[in-house]
Amino acid sequence: MSETRPRSSVRVKAPGKINVYLAVGALQDDGYHELATAYQAVSLCDDVVARRADDFGVHVSGAVDLGRVPTDGSNLAVRAARLLAARTGYRGGVRLSIDKRVPVTGGMGGGSADAAAALVACDALWGTGVGREELLGMAAELGSDVPFCLAGGTAIGTGRGDELTPVLATGTFEWVLAIAPFGLSTPTVFAELDRHRSRHALDIAPAPTAPRVDNGVLQALRAGDPTMLAEHMVNDLQAPALKLAPPLVDVLEAGERAGALAGMVSGSGPTIAFLAEHREAALALQVELSAAGVDAVRTHGPVAGARVVEVD
Ligand code: C5P
Repeated sequence: MSETRPRSSVRVKAPGKINVYLAVGALQDDGYHELATAYQAVSLCDDVVARRADDFGVHVSGAVDLGRVPTDGSNLAVRAARLLAARTGYRGGVRLSIDKRVPVTGGMGGGSADAAAALVACDALWGTGVGREELLGMAAELGSDVPFCLAGGTAIGTGRGDELTPVLATGTFEWVLAIAPFGLSTPTVFAELDRHRSRHALDIAPAPTAPRVDNGVLQALRAGDPTMLAEHMVNDLQAPALKLAPPLVDVLEAGERAGALAGMVSGSGPTIAFLAEHREAALALQVELSAAGVDAVRTHGPVAGARVVEVD
């Protein structure tokens, strides 16, 4: 693809994700776990603007706790931009401005969404015209969730979570997110699961060698049926997340008491995603959780992945 005129800025929407099902296999020699997950991209988005620059930089703003977001070259969005430049031979840089709404280290793939958005934004800004398959390959190099954040919609992730198969999904699912005032480190949550499994090797089922997404989840997504989905939602990272952050147990109970169909830790947490029967039920749930002192945010899915919304 060749550009007719140079662009000065590109804005991309970067949706967060919920894992509506997450089965974790055994720890492998490379330090990763074999996963089987069902991802859903949701309407809670970061906003990423890429502007032409001679070198690489990032500015981060937003209403969420930004304390844990790196603003140097270790920021995953900057690494994404540098990777695209290196692969395409682009010689300039970019100034990224990220407005965050997806909770930071919250288990909703916020950093991964920003990286996916940076790939899409820089490709459009620089006119490098990289194909979708190649972008997905770069995304997988950046992190296990980045390919899904690029693809969006509803998909099954296997391998590290980066090998995607699209899922037939209908309808819209209404969620209320309980945002925690702290973060959890993904490697720490996986390590807690491994510790638990080795401590209780005699009395719990071993890690599955070939984890699979439950058929009930696929049926519920296909039917757009939140009640059926609520019955089949599982997250193997929930128990270790609750062990590391016990106050989340009270939040889960508060949501279920307030009428959620089901509540589940999102990814490695600490965000908790409550599924509601419909939009009005989600509104009522949000009101009740807020009254109980929980930072409750409504969102829905599925939505498209990282996409350009404005070009100058
Ligand atoms: O791929 P990503 O860099 O996002 O992964 C962060 C960490 O999460 C890894 O270093 C690893 O500890 C853990 N992880 C894992 N198995 C996966 C994906 C992530 O153990 N399939």
